[in-house]
Amino acid sequence: MKKKIGVIWGDGSSPEIVREAIAVLDTIANKYGHEFEYTKILMGGEAIDVMGEPLPQSQLDLCRAQDSVLLGAIGGPKWEGLPGEKRPEKGLLALRAGMGLYANNRPAKIWPQLADASPLKKEIVDQGIDFLIVRELIGGAYFGEHKQFEQNGELCAIDTMPYSEHEIERIGRIGFETARKRRKKLCMVDKHNVLETSRLWVKVFDRLKEDYPDVEYSTMFVDNCAMQICKNPAQFDVIVTENLFGDILSDEASEITGSIGMIPSSSLGKTTNGLYEPIHGSAPDIAGKNIVNPIACILSAAMMLRYSFDMAREADDIEKAVGAVLDQGLRTADMMSEGMIPVGTKEMGAAIRANIEV
Ligand code: IPM
Ligand code: MN
Repeated sequence: MKKKIGVIWGDGSSPEIVREAIAVLDTIANKYGHEFEYTKILMGGEAIDVMGEPLPQSQLDLCRAQDSVLLGAIGGPKWEGLPGEKRPEKGLLALRAGMGLYANNRPAKIWPQLADASPLKKEIVDQGIDFLIVRELIGGAYFGEHKQFEQNGELCAIDTMPYSEHEIERIGRIGFETARKRRKKLCMVDKHNVLETSRLWVKVFDRLKEDYPDVEYSTMFVDNCAMQICKNPAQFDVIVTENLFGDILSDEASEITGSIGMIPSSSLGKTTNGLYEPIHGSAPDIAGKNIVNPIACILSAAMMLRYSFDMAREADDIEKAVGAVLDQGLRTADMMSEGMIPVGTKEMGAAIRANIEV
């Protein structure tokens, strides 16, 4: 099968992980006779440096013309002083919105091999960690009004958090449908004791749940959820939540699985042209040192094969190969624990490829 893949190499240590993910895709292409055609697309800090803005229209158009887009991570201290509208992160937000990617799936699943690397107590880890955060991605505070202004002789700032019924309904349906394919439990996380947007989420979900009587539905306040993720993560199957809460909770959820360097994500909208990216940042402090963990990016490529290209066998191959290298004891620095074998970015990528070829 021939597929067009847009590749955003990203900033900081990101090109090092994207390189490994592409090499893995090439291994899969060879093994199964697929043809992946890669197109380099600029977004984030690199786009600012080369083209003067974080997501030029031409680059968004290129993304839309692909079958799917693979991204490493963007941003870094180099662009820190720029105003909000010109920052690399703005490019990412514009890309998500421009491609209409409202549903961001972030799995929090512990690899049994990494149980020792989890900061949680063994008895909690042993109960199992396997849940999925479905994060609304193109609404809420990220896309509200942002401004600073002067009032009574001092600076003030405001960020608004808008949501409309249709935005809540479409992500709600993804939440229920996803739960249906898993253990049939959906927890909607909000702050409806304080926020009006959350009260609208409750109203829309109360309506939606009637269409999914087979799914066990509950709600939880976000502060409590942050606590429950550490205390009793086994209770969760699918969590659905708004943009900012999902951003925060997914970092927490990744950490309890042993390393944020292991967690991929998919962002999808109405079509199968999705965006696949690790949930971690660009880690500029470790750039160029061959120590960043490439697995989250490699697993993001696997998710692309599974969800955008319907290549389940190929995705299984990659995920099994990751399991195999973990079984062999190979660990990058972020997930190191006693008695394991330290490897660098390139060595980890090569070991995963070697396990796909066999
Ligand atoms: C993420 C990141 C982004 C976000 C940043 C880089 C804008 O933290 O993908 O979780 O907040 O969505
Ligand atoms: Mn984040």
